[in-house]
Amino acid sequence: MEEIRIITIDGPASSGKTTVARMLAQKLNIPLLESGTLYRLVTYFLVNAEKPFNTYLEDKQALLQFLRKIFKETKIEITPLGTFIYWNGKLIKEELRNKEVENTVSQISAIKEVREFLTEFMRGLAEKSKLIAEGRDMGSVVFPYSDVKIFLTANEKIRAERRFKEKAEKEKIDKEFLYKEVWDNIKFRDRLDSQRKIAPLTIPEGAYIIDTSYLTPEEVMNEILKIIKNRER
Ligand code: DC
Repeated sequence: MEEIRIITIDGPASSGKTTVARMLAQKLNIPLLESGTLYRLVTYFLVNAEKPFNTYLEDKQALLQFLRKIFKETKIEITPLGTFIYWNGKLIKEELRNKEVENTVSQISAIKEVREFLTEFMRGLAEKSKLIAEGRDMGSVVFPYSDVKIFLTANEKIRAERRFKEKAEKEKIDKEFLYKEVWDNIKFRDRLDSQRKIAPLTIPEGAYIIDTSYLTPEEVMNEILKIIKNRER
């Protein structure tokens, strides 16, 4: 029987990746690497750096030093419940999802040095543990040798509605304005994530594609469990 060590789940924003990956990780009791959280972490520190973040983009040496510093000063926990970042002993979570990070993360994730740094870090994790790795380039670039590759999609409108629902519960602002903001952000991030030169969002070779538009998270998870069972035979 083939042992499954790495399962990758890729797809665009709000394709259902996060929910499904978390359910699957808990069901299988495998640590869940949410790679977007790492890109958000780097973005959060860069936008809050003393110097304007553009200076790091122009000076690659300074950028690398800065990245090393971030990873030294924070604690990153990869568990079946998800990826958690601690800084000065405090969990940072909401900060990684604020508007500033949301609007800058695609730009930061397009930087070669950032991607190389995080790719190396993530491969290091896989040497020590089984992983479910969720993101944009998990099956295509970071873990091309992964045992099971999943690519989730959903149509744009449904993805915008999902993101809107999530945000409407938290943010008390005009609903029409919020919907437009969500829609624009999804279109903007999709464009940047799939058109960037390095590791663009793409369907990895050998991936199973699941359209989640009209499926519940349970149904998607069951599909994936079936695929895993077939691979284990
Ligand atoms: O999955 P998420 O929304 O937390 O990801 C945040 C951003 O990080 C996303 O807009 C693109 C980037 N990202 C990436 O470039 N590569 C990954 N493997 C994961 C995320």
